[in-house]
Amino acid sequence: EKGGYEHFMLKEIFEQPKSILDTMRGRLLVEEGIIKMAGIWDHQERLTNASRIIIIACGTSWHAGLIGEYLIEEFARIPVEVEYASEFRYRNPILSEKDVVIAISQSGETADTMAALKLAKERGAFIYGICNVVDSSIARITDAGSYTHAGPEIGVASTKAFTAQLTILSLIALKLGKHNGHLSNQEFMKLITELDQLPNKVQEVLDSTNEHVKEIAKNYIDATNFLYLGRGYNYPSALEGALKLKEISYIHAEGYPAAEMKHGPIALIDENMPIVIIAPKRGHYDKIVSNVQEIKARKGQVIAVVNDGDEQVASMADHVIEIPDTSECFSPIIAAVPLQLLSYYIAVYRGANVDQPRNLAKSVTVE
Ligand code: M6R
Repeated sequence: EKGGYEHFMLKEIFEQPKSILDTMRGRLLVEEGIIKMAGIWDHQERLTNASRIIIIACGTSWHAGLIGEYLIEEFARIPVEVEYASEFRYRNPILSEKDVVIAISQSGETADTMAALKLAKERGAFIYGICNVVDSSIARITDAGSYTHAGPEIGVASTKAFTAQLTILSLIALKLGKHNGHLSNQEFMKLITELDQLPNKVQEVLDSTNEHVKEIAKNYIDATNFLYLGRGYNYPSALEGALKLKEISYIHAEGYPAAEMKHGPIALIDENMPIVIIAPKRGHYDKIVSNVQEIKARKGQVIAVVNDGDEQVASMADHVIEIPDTSECFSPIIAAVPLQLLSYYIAVYRGANVDQPRNLAKSVTVE
C-alpha cells in the first residue's frame, strides 16, 4: 500500500504531480480560457462582493491560508485576514453578513476549525470549505466549497494536501480576479498557462532534487536548531518548512520573514545554525541576497533554494537546491517539495517514526 516507498510520507511527496493535476482537473480549462468551479460559480456575487474574506485553519492548512491571502489580495483585491481557528473562535470576532469565511482543512474534522465555522455561521457570514476528505464534518456544514482532490493522506505530516490547497486557492483567486475585473484577460491567460505547467514542474523538481537533498540532509542529522527564511509568497513557505522539520525530526526550527531576521533571530546565528533560505528569482531577490550576506558574515550555514542557474545566492550558500522558475505566486508550490524532502530525510537518518511522529494525531478532533 506504500507503493514501494519506505513511508507514506515519501509516497505522498512523490504523488504531488498527480494530486495537483487531480485538483485542477475539470476546473482549469486553459484552451477555453476559463476556470470552472461549481462552488464559486453558484455564489459568485456573494464572493466577489465580500467586504472581506477571513481564512481560518490550523497548522499546515493555516500556512496555505497565508499564501491564500497573498493570492486573493493580489489578484481579486479583496481584503483577507488569516486566523488560527482557535484564536478566532475565542475572541468574539467581529463578523457581518458581508463577510466570507473560508475554512481550510485536509481532514475536515479539526475541532477548532469546525467550532470557528459554526460561530461564523451563527453570525451570518457565508462559509466556504476547502477540504480534502469528502463528506467530512466541515464539508457538510459549509454553505459551499471546493474539494482538494489530493487523495487520502496517511502520513501525519501534511504534504500533498498542502500543495493541493495552494492549487485551489490559486484557482479561486484567479477566478475571482477575472470575474471582478481586477485581472486583465491577458494576465489571466498568462497565469493559468503557468498554473497548468505546475504538475510537470513539480515532477521535474522531484526528479532533480530527491537524491541531492538526501545527500544534503546527512550534514544536518545532529543539528539542534534550524531557521527558515523567505519573503513575500515564500514567507509562509518558510513557516511550513520549519513545521515539517519540527514535526517529524524533532529538531527545533523557526520560520521567519527574512526581513525580520535583524529584529531578533540574527542574534542566534553562528557556525552551528543552519538556515534554509527560499530565494527564487522572482520576488524580492535582491533583498534576500543581502540577508544571505548578513548570515554568511556571521558564519551561519546556508541551504539555499534557488532557481535553476542562480549564481548570486548560490555562490554564497553552503548547499544549493535548484528549482524550476515559475510566477512568484506559484513558487510556494514548487519550493514546498525540496523542503518536504529535506525534513523527510533528516528524520529518516535520525531514526524517527516519520509517518506517525510522537504526540501527534492525523486529525486533531480535540480542542
Ligand atoms: O486536517 P487539517 O488540515 O484541519 O489539520 C490541520 C493541522 O492539524 C495539520 O495541518 C497539522 O499541522 C499537520 N500535522 C501538519 O503537517
